[in-house]
Amino acid sequence: MLVRVCSLKDVPENGMIRVDLKGKELLVARIGERVYVADVWCTHEEGDLSLGLLEGDVVMCPLHRARFKLSDGGVLEGPDGEPPESIPRLRTYTVKIQGVDIYIEEP
Ligand code: FES
Repeated sequence: MLVRVCSLKDVPENGMIRVDLKGKELLVARIGERVYVADVWCTHEEGDLSLGLLEGDVVMCPLHRARFKLSDGGVLEGPDGEPPESIPRLRTYTVKIQGVDIYIEEP
C-alpha cells in the first residue's frame, strides 16, 4: 500500500526534514533528484537524525556521530567511533514519487 508522506516542495534540496506520519516519525531527505525516507530516530539512543548532518546520501547522528547510508540504512560508523556492528541498521522505506508527492510502500 502506498502512503503519502509529504510534497517534494516541503523538502529543501540537499536537505532533510522530519515528518510525523500518523504517529510514525520519519526522516525525508532530498539529494539532487533522489529522495530517501527512513526512520528519524537513530538506532543507538534515539537521536533525532533530522537534526544531524547530511553528507551526500549519508546522515550523521547529532548525538554521538553514528553514520547511516540512506540508500539502505546500513551503518557506516557506530557511535563515538565504535564499529558499525555495534548498532542496528536504520529502517528505510521504498520511495515512490507521483507528481509532486512523496509516497512510501507500507506493508
Ligand atoms: S543516538 Fe545516534 S549515535 Fe548515539
